[in-house]
Amino acid sequence: NTIENGKVTWESPSNIALVKYWGKKKDQIPENPSISFTLNNCKTITTLTFSKNEHASDFEFEVFLDGEKKDDFKPKIETFFKRVEGYLPFLKHYKFKIETKNTFPHSSGIASSASGMSALALCLMSIEKQLATEITESFFNQKASFLARLGSGSACRSIEGDLIVWGQSNAIDGSSDLFGVKYPYKVHENFKEYQDTILLVDKGEKQVSSTVGHNLMHNHPYAKNRFQQAHDNLEKLKLILESGDLDAFIALIESEALTLHAMMMTSMPYFILMKPNTLEIINKIWKFRQETGLHISFTLDAGANVHVLYPKNESFEVLEFIKNELVAYCQNAHYICDQIGFGAKQL
Ligand code: PMV
Repeated sequence: NTIENGKVTWESPSNIALVKYWGKKKDQIPENPSISFTLNNCKTITTLTFSKNEHASDFEFEVFLDGEKKDDFKPKIETFFKRVEGYLPFLKHYKFKIETKNTFPHSSGIASSASGMSALALCLMSIEKQLATEITESFFNQKASFLARLGSGSACRSIEGDLIVWGQSNAIDGSSDLFGVKYPYKVHENFKEYQDTILLVDKGEKQVSSTVGHNLMHNHPYAKNRFQQAHDNLEKLKLILESGDLDAFIALIESEALTLHAMMMTSMPYFILMKPNTLEIINKIWKFRQETGLHISFTLDAGANVHVLYPKNESFEVLEFIKNELVAYCQNAHYICDQIGFGAKQL
C-alpha cells in the first residue's frame, strides 16, 4: 500500500495531572504512575501535510506555528522523530509540513507540549492507518499514546478523556508505563464536568525545562519516598473517585501539587517555580474555602500558574470569587476557563 501525498488534521487537548508525574527512567518510562483530567478548551490543532520523498536519508520537515515558520521547534521534533522511527517505518519516505496552532495564547506559560505532541502523534497514526491493512480504534489510540509519550511524557495522557492513568499501578487494571489508559472504574457524579480555571500568573518562558526537571529526581534525597507516595496517592484517589468525597479529593490533589514543588525546592540544583502571586492566590483560596465551605481547590504544574479546580454546581460562586479576588494576581488579568474534556478529535 503506497500513498503519494495527503493531509490530516487533529485537535488534541492539554491535560492537568492530579497525581503528578515527576521523574523518569530511560525511554520516557515514568518513575511513578500519574492520573490526569483531560481538558476541553486548551487544545492544539495540527495539520500534517505529507508527500512521497523516496530517496531521503534524513527526516525532512518544516514547522509552522500560526502560519509562521518556526525553526526553533525543529530540534524537539527531530528528537521525537528519531525516537519513533522504529515504530513508524514510513517516516523517512515522506516529507512533512507541520502546521500548528493553539487555542490558548502563545507564551501563556501553559505547556503546549502535551497537546502539541499528542496532536502530532495522532497525525502520524492517521498516515500509518492509511498505509496499514487494519487498525482497530483501541489499537490506534494505544499506539498514538505510546508515540506521544516519546514526544513528551504527559502527552500520552491527552489522546482520550476524561480521566487517564499513565504508569503501572497495582491499583489500576490495565495500566502501563508505555501508554495512557482510560480510568477503568466508575466515577462519582461529583466529578462530572469538573471545572478548571487556569490563572496565568506568569506567562514567561519556563524557568526549568521538564527534561531538566525530571532529571533532578535522579539522586534526589526524597525520590524513593516520593515515588512510593504517588503509588499510594493513586490508590487513595481511586477510593475518593468512587465515594465522591470532595474534602478528601481536595486534600490529596493540593498535597500532590505542593509535593511537586517541594521536590524542586529540595533538589540540587534547587528551584522555586512559584511566584509571590502564586502564594497569594493559594492563601486566598484557602481562606475562601474556609469561609464558604465551597469545594474550591488548586493544583500546579511545573510553573507559577494556578489551576483552580471546583465542581460544576459551585461554578457561579467560585467564578465570582475568581473575578473579584484572584484575577488581580494574574498577569494582564489573564485567565482561561476550562473543564474536563473527552480527548482528541480528527477534523
Ligand atoms: O510531559 P513532561 O515531561 O513535560 O512533564 C510534565 C510534568 C508535570 O506537568 C509537572 C506533571 C504531570 O504529570 O503532568
